[in-house]
Amino acid sequence: MTARIIDGKAVARKLRAEYAERIADLKVRHGVVPGIAVILVGDNPASQVYVRNKISACKDTGIHSELYQLPADTPEAVLMARIDALNADPAVHGILVQLPLPVHISVPNVLERIAVDKDVDGFHLYNVGGLVTGNTVFPPCTPFGVQKLLEHENVEISGKNVVVVGASNIVGKPMALMLMQQDATVCICHKMTRDLGQFTRLADILVVAAGVPGLIKGDMVSEGVVVIDVGINRLPDGRLVGDVDFESVSQKASLLSPVPGGVGPMTITMLLHNTLVSAERAVAAKG
Ligand code: GUN
Repeated sequence: MTARIIDGKAVARKLRAEYAERIADLKVRHGVVPGIAVILVGDNPASQVYVRNKISACKDTGIHSELYQLPADTPEAVLMARIDALNADPAVHGILVQLPLPVHISVPNVLERIAVDKDVDGFHLYNVGGLVTGNTVFPPCTPFGVQKLLEHENVEISGKNVVVVGASNIVGKPMALMLMQQDATVCICHKMTRDLGQFTRLADILVVAAGVPGLIKGDMVSEGVVVIDVGINRLPDGRLVGDVDFESVSQKASLLSPVPGGVGPMTITMLLHNTLVSAERAVAAKG
């Protein structure tokens, strides 16, 4: 079998056009422009690129954005005060603190300081709890993007064997919960898993977010599997590759998301979605 390759850019483009219409509608009907505040602490080069891309996507879609760039030695209290001010600002519907943070700042403290109604990353414990019970308001953007890709490709989830490789708070764990909510039989593998292949070969749908270039080879998957590659790895020669060995896996999978151009464009798209939803909820709450 030769895999059909998912065009994440095209799916993202289509969804962004839909969100842009809803954003324009909100402005015309209620005079409200969705707004997001993005906080970047320090000068991590990858974070700088991610934040730049987020801001630019907001601009293209009609979302107002504010960028707060704080030096790496910013005390935690100063960051908290900034979050408090943004929590109180009615023009801000979403607050995103880019991770990772410098080591002297507690990530849990920061994430729990963000108002749950503005937690467009979906990282606050309240929203994480909502994932467990199946009613979160803001699903985390990367697994949400994967879910939307699968939906767009009409991949049936219910009753399927799903294997998630990677157990991070940002991707693997929420991904597993979201697919379990859709009645998949979910298995989570991680870096301590012995003989990964014995699990991945059972998958009808395989989601890989391990951060290990080329981890999944063709002999580790079954014929006809749907494979979603969440990995983004920069090789020493400058090439960007995923966690899946594209050459060998594409010979066996029925559907495969590439890197780049698969999940990547969907992550920011879902951030736009969550910010829009937050603004719509603010309008509805006002009556
Ligand atoms: N760092 C890597 N991915 C993410 C994300 O989705 N949100 C935030 N805030 N930081 C990240």
